[in-house]
Amino acid sequence: MKLLHGILGISLILAPLLSAQDEAPPPRVEIIAGLRAPAPAARVRALVAAESRLSGESDLVLQGLLRRLCRDSEASVRLQLGKSLGKTGRIRPSLRRFAEGSLVEVLIFSAESAELRAAVIASMDGAEAAALTLMLGDPRFAETLAGRPELLAELAASILQRRRDEAMAALLLRISAEPAGWRRDALLQGTIGALPGSDADAEKLPFRYRPIGLDRMLASEEPRLAQAAADIEAASIFTEGARPLDAVEQALFEQGELLFQRNCVSCHLITGIGGNLAPPLVDSEWVISDRVDRLLRILNNGLSGPVMVKGKRYEIAGMLGFKAFSDEQLAAVATYIRRAWGHEAEPISPATVNRIRAEIGERSQAWTAAELERLR
Ligand code: HEC
Repeated sequence: MKLLHGILGISLILAPLLSAQDEAPPPRVEIIAGLRAPAPAARVRALVAAESRLSGESDLVLQGLLRRLCRDSEASVRLQLGKSLGKTGRIRPSLRRFAEGSLVEVLIFSAESAELRAAVIASMDGAEAAALTLMLGDPRFAETLAGRPELLAELAASILQRRRDEAMAALLLRISAEPAGWRRDALLQGTIGALPGSDADAEKLPFRYRPIGLDRMLASEEPRLAQAAADIEAASIFTEGARPLDAVEQALFEQGELLFQRNCVSCHLITGIGGNLAPPLVDSEWVISDRVDRLLRILNNGLSGPVMVKGKRYEIAGMLGFKAFSDEQLAAVATYIRRAWGHEAEPISPATVNRIRAEIGERSQAWTAAELERLR
C-alpha cells in the first residue's frame, strides 16, 4: 500500500510535466462543447483533443458524439475524424471495434473525397478486411455513389500491400461471393492492380494455405473472374497446405471415395481411424509417405502379419488385396486415402499403378510389413 502511494505520488507530480510537452489537453467539458460547436474548425480542434481523452478510460458520451460526426456535413471534420479514430483504435484495443465501425460509417457517407479515403484507409492499420465485410454487408452501400468504386479498389489494394494472409484470403472469399456488378469489378480492379510484378525478384503474395476464395474464383464460369484468379495464383506462394488437384486428379479422388466407401470402410471405418478390424489410415506412414510402391503393393496383394502404424504394433487377421481393381481404380482409391482426412500427399496416377504392377508380376500372396520395408 505504501509503495502504491509512492508510485501514485510520483506520477501525480510527473503527469502535468509529461503532458506539458505537447500542451495540456483541454478538460472534457470543453472537448464535448467543441464537438458540438457550430464552427467546423472548432469541431476539428475538439476532435484532435478528443484523441488523448479516448485513449484513457472508456467514455461513452464522447464515443456517441464521434459517431454523430461520421455524418458531419463538413468534409474537413469527417477527414479529421478518420485520422483521430485510426489513432485511438490503435492505442486502445478495446476501442478497435468502435473505431472500425465508425471508420466504415465515415466511408459510407463520404467516399467522394480521395484525401478522406486515403486518410481513413491509412487509419485502418490492417483492419481493411473487417471494414470491407462491414461495408459490403451494409444496405446503404448498395448504390454506386461517387468515389465508392475507387474506395473498394483502394481497400483491396491496401489489403494486398499489407501482405497479411488471412486478410488477403478474406478479400478473395469476398470477391468470389460477390455477385457480378460494380462492387466486384472494383474489388477485382484494386486486387489485380496491386499484384506484384512478374519479374523474378518481385515479392509474391505469401499465403500459408490455399485460400478457398481463390479456388472458387478459378472454378468460376465467368472467364474474367477465372482469369483474374489465375493471375492472382501466379503471383502467390503457398507455404503450407496441399497442392490443389487438377481436374483429372480430382475425378480420380472422387471415384476413389466411392470405392473406399464400398470396399474399405467395413474395417478401416469411414473416418479412416480403424478399430478392432484394421489399423488406422489417418496419418499412417504407409498411406502418406513417398514410398507409394509399398502402399500400392499392400493395396494390390494385401498385408499379413504384424505391422507398425504410427509407432503402434497391430496384429490383426490380415488384409486381402484388390487385384481385381483396374489400374485406374487402384490409383483412385490410393489417391483418395492420400488426400482424405486432411492428408496432403501427392495423388497417384494409373500409370504409376501400372508400373508397380509390372514389378509385382504374377505374385498373389500378401506381403508382410518386414518384406515391404526391405524393398530397395
Ligand atoms: C477385412 C478388413 C479390411 C478391409 C476391407 C480393408 N482393410 Fe486395409 N487393413 C486391414 C488390416 C487387418 C490391416 C493390417 C494387416 C496386418 O496386420 O498386416 C490393413 C492394413 C492396411 C494398410 C496398411 C496399414 C495402415 O494402417 O496404413 C492400408 C494402407 C490399408 N489397409 C488400406 C486399405 C484400403 C484402401 C482398403 C480398401 C480398398 C482396405 N484397406 C480394406 C483390414 C482391412
